[in-house]
Amino acid sequence: MEKLIIEGNRPLKGEVEISGSKNAALPIMAATLLTDEPCIIRRVPKLRDTMTMLKLLRSLGKRAELSGHEVIVESKGSLRHVAEYQLVSTMRGSFCVLGPLLAKLHKARVSLPGGCVIGVRPVDLHLKGLHALGTKIEIENGYVVATAKNLRGTSVYLGGVFGSSVLATANVLMAATLAKGQTTIESAACEPEIENLCYFLQAMGAQIDGVGSHRLVVSGVKRLHGARFDIIPDRIEAGTYILLAAATRSDIRIKGAHYAHLWALVDKLDQMGIRVINQNNVIRLEHQWRLKPVGVTTHPYPGFPTDLQAQFMSLMTITPGVSIITERVYPDRFIHIAELHRMGADIRREGSNAIIQGVKVLHGAPVMASDLRASAGLVIAGLMAKGRTEIHRMYHLERGYENLDDKLMGLGAKVYREKE
Ligand code: UD1
Repeated sequence: MEKLIIEGNRPLKGEVEISGSKNAALPIMAATLLTDEPCIIRRVPKLRDTMTMLKLLRSLGKRAELSGHEVIVESKGSLRHVAEYQLVSTMRGSFCVLGPLLAKLHKARVSLPGGCVIGVRPVDLHLKGLHALGTKIEIENGYVVATAKNLRGTSVYLGGVFGSSVLATANVLMAATLAKGQTTIESAACEPEIENLCYFLQAMGAQIDGVGSHRLVVSGVKRLHGARFDIIPDRIEAGTYILLAAATRSDIRIKGAHYAHLWALVDKLDQMGIRVINQNNVIRLEHQWRLKPVGVTTHPYPGFPTDLQAQFMSLMTITPGVSIITERVYPDRFIHIAELHRMGADIRREGSNAIIQGVKVLHGAPVMASDLRASAGLVIAGLMAKGRTEIHRMYHLERGYENLDDKLMGLGAKVYREKE
């Protein structure tokens, strides 16, 4: 295992290129199970999670290779219908092979992913949607066993206690593409990653109306064909670099992101006194000398993303006054607070709220990475802090940030890896 060492408190400078979106790539790679024809997916980021999805596709009987940033998926005989615990438990995104396997093979046995440090993370909405399409669902020894002689179109409401679900929408949508008749998904997730998945499915021959909205109408077709497709830029990686620039008051150029996917963040930073400017597909920041505290509430898209909450909290730790974060997607996603305390932050948690009293400076410390985005928040804190920060278990970062240390070094940061 490796740890990431950061010598903080130095301004950054230069240019960083945003990679393809992890959360778009995972369901799109799973969607290749819907066809026997070859699919070529470009701009796939080289990450632990995308490698796990390649392994999963291979374990299901596909030939799946990554060359540069291009994934080629081809058939080599018949598909298998079992997604094993080892691959699903390391990455929840694996659960989105359930819908495609069911649509293609009329049966699937997919491990339940289990909880993780950000909360319980149930899959009831996935199962509700697939059941509505005519699937018999049983839970056997930790696996979802799903069978459907014929999937048939229906109307199903996928809103949950915490709003719409991204991967439940992906699963039900993919199953519906090959169902008989018309399926309407009400309260569908409208994240850009779901929109990207819809465009890929359309490129494969699926008929979907309402793309990008909370109401998806799918007219089932008999078969889907192969397609060539580009993944969108990763809005969470872009948001992380924007917050890193804000927190270190740096002048960095962030290239290749979709500004339109970042409005909730851009607006919040504007309220704090940081203007985020987009010129010719390059994002830069204009900093005011004194930051103003704000309140941030996470919501499904187009609201403020929960996947940027930890990174935003790091910026708030040095913002004068009292800032508040309310977590409405994962009410327990606050594991990073204890690590930020170790660096001198003043944060109090009250239920799903975090109350942050700005301090003058953070100090470097050994800290523990616990999940992907919490770890990104610690990287930002380490870059702001005086002295040396050690981030243990840095493999969490490798799940979602392509070439993180190289990209940071390219911006002049003093970061390096050491063996644990
Ligand atoms: C996806 C993202 C993840 C992001 C999350 C929320 C991928 C691979 N991961 O995860 O990075 O943090 O969206 O934007 O795309 N819920 C239920 N029942 C369900 C499913 C979800 O109650 O059946 C709840 C969850 O516990 C959570 C909320 O709904 O409170 C949203 O979760 P969901 O959108 O499903 O997250 P994922 O799709 O797993």
